[in-house]
Amino acid sequence: MRAVDIIIKKRDKKELTSQEIEFFIRGFTNGEIPDYQASAFAMTVMLNGMTSHETKDLTLAMAHSGQVLDLSKIVDVVVDKHSSGGVGDKTSISVMPMVAACGLPVGKMSGRGLGFSGGTIDKLESIPGYRVNLTTNEFKQQLKEKGIVLTGQSLDLAPADGKMYALRDVTGTVPSIPLIASSIMCKKIAAGATAIVLDVKVGLGAFMETLDEARKLASLMVDIGHLAGRKTVALLSDMNQPLGNAVGNSLEMIEAIDLLRGNAPVDYLEHCLHVTAHVLVVGGRAKDLNEGRALAEKCITDGSALEKFRVLVQAQGGDVAYVDDVNRFERAKYLEVVNAPRSGFVSQVHARIVGEAAVTLGAGRTKKGDPIDRAVGFIIHKKVGDGVEAGEPLFEIHSNDETKLKAAREAVLSAYGFSDEFVSPLPLFYE
Ligand code: URA
Repeated sequence: MRAVDIIIKKRDKKELTSQEIEFFIRGFTNGEIPDYQASAFAMTVMLNGMTSHETKDLTLAMAHSGQVLDLSKIVDVVVDKHSSGGVGDKTSISVMPMVAACGLPVGKMSGRGLGFSGGTIDKLESIPGYRVNLTTNEFKQQLKEKGIVLTGQSLDLAPADGKMYALRDVTGTVPSIPLIASSIMCKKIAAGATAIVLDVKVGLGAFMETLDEARKLASLMVDIGHLAGRKTVALLSDMNQPLGNAVGNSLEMIEAIDLLRGNAPVDYLEHCLHVTAHVLVVGGRAKDLNEGRALAEKCITDGSALEKFRVLVQAQGGDVAYVDDVNRFERAKYLEVVNAPRSGFVSQVHARIVGEAAVTLGAGRTKKGDPIDRAVGFIIHKKVGDGVEAGEPLFEIHSNDETKLKAAREAVLSAYGFSDEFVSPLPLFYE
């Protein structure tokens, strides 16, 4: 078999066999198939799609490119929650400690930023010392002792996805249903989660812009989860505008930690409570969503979720002083408050434009391995449905570069739409 023939076959819209997919993923993982062929492969999949059979094979091949953890000797149940990617989506950073504080072990492998969407691992690294490269033994040990692990793609778990993810980020091959489904689900399978909640984002700042596409992605991932014997549930949530107020690595960390202190924008809090309730139900800790929600609220008010986050940060070598005092997070040199150009109701805050503007400020990457600037980003003060007076603060820009700041100002202003008529707030969840 030759990699080039597999690329040609997919280019010509033919279905790949399980053996061909396994051959390609094995060769890519061990370095025999170079990045340029893997990029071409990703592009053919992006353009020509995959059957659900091929997607399942790709998922399993990537999951088995490294170890597949069996955690049943360590804990009875391990839960995980994964987002398909969005702007201002720091949900995992708040929800995982909330779930763990409610008594369910959480073992999660997250990704870095992808295109205009941020990544949990980049955000967590805003805490000095926080290690995102745990070995599988460390993963297991920490899960057993602390009941919570939040790490990056390790060399041992789904390494094919780690390599492919970095290529997709910079080759325009992110928004593909089979590539997203396999990327997310191979990590879940490899890291041993027994119950999974998938938060599939829909809208202008999501990889799936329509409900129809999001539904397809969601049901494909749920099928793959069931095929691998995992309890899997998917929610479809809004990503037309950024979630919460903060966009950018350190700024999002601050908002996520503030939530654990009971101090968060209402949409972000509601989103996290709902996702947590679902995880608690899927993981068997709550009998229904009402009970799950009550537990989720309690772990914030009694401080146990914040304490669990401290435990996590300490266990992974991070400086807990950042959790205790969020003013320690690195701040950008320039902060500009941009005021509303007119009065009315906000009708749009185009999430993709905001996400791309954040990448331009330096919060994301345009080339594989680019360094990122953790301090930069936005605080979005006015969201869809809010009334606004001309001259009132609309958003803040945090930048380390004056030219980039100017470009970001224009971009985010263009992301806003206004109406003279009342505009309803956007729903948080669709299904
Ligand atoms: N999250 C992932 O882990 N992979 C994707 O492709 C998109 C979101």
